[in-house]
Amino acid sequence: MPKLKQTLILVGSAKHPKSTSESLGNYLQKRLETQGVETYKLKLYQHVFQPSAREKMLEFMNDSDLWVLTFPLYIDSTPYIVVKWMEWVMENKQRIENLTEKKFLPIVNCGFPEAKHNEVAISICEEFAKEAGLEWLGGLSLGGGESIHGEPLDSKVGMVRHVTTALDLTAEAVADGLVVPDQAITLMAKSFIPKWVYTLVGEVGWRYRAKQNGMQNNLKDRPYDPTPEHKKKPR
Ligand SMILES: Cc1cc2nc3c(=O)[nH]c(=O)nc-3n(C[C@H](O)[C@H](O)[C@H](O)COP(=O)(O)O)c2cc1C
Repeated sequence: MPKLKQTLILVGSAKHPKSTSESLGNYLQKRLETQGVETYKLKLYQHVFQPSAREKMLEFMNDSDLWVLTFPLYIDSTPYIVVKWMEWVMENKQRIENLTEKKFLPIVNCGFPEAKHNEVAISICEEFAKEAGLEWLGGLSLGGGESIHGEPLDSKVGMVRHVTTALDLTAEAVADGLVVPDQAITLMAKSFIPKWVYTLVGEVGWRYRAKQNGMQNNLKDRPYDPTPEHKKKPR
């Protein structure tokens, strides 16, 4: 297997200045560099909309033999900037050098604790890779992404050990020209905390924020409910 030479990390979160997508990308970038791979990182929202920025991105895409796309789940799917990037790639296939020799690896993170919510987005990425002619290395899927909250993974130590191990295994494998190991995919999808703890913390946080805003008695309001008044059930 030929060794990987250059990787481009594309961050598909619109959050600024920090996002969980970028934290995951940063960690993988460092590990790939340790493996001797040259790496670059671009934020999609700074590059997909302007023609001059797209041309700059195209240069990096041409020079890299692996594209890592790291993004959040939006409404059970890929965010708009990711769709926009995919459409642009498909429209510009002829301009991308050695497209069919390039590899593709998406990392999706979602807010709900279960990584399975990312399945549709991963499938979209796989279909995109197929249609573009890219080599599919496998997709990494993380639930409870807000637990990372855009912080460096190194600063989180124990809590994210399964995530860092998954990325370590991924970096080692792809640097050697291999696909993402199944063990890395399984580890990445492990929950940070039991589901009931996540739900409890979310519920407490929701009530706390409502109180801060004087809305503790309005949590069941449905201002846009189209049901006619006489048909509404008393709450
Ligand atoms: C507009 C919007 C839609 C979202 N939709 C979902 C969703 O359908 N399922 C989910 O689990 N999380 C959803 N989330 C939560 C994000 O996926 C989650 O907060 C993620 O960790 C953000 O990653 P980032 O920091 O890389 O942007 C949504 C967030 C936003 C802002």
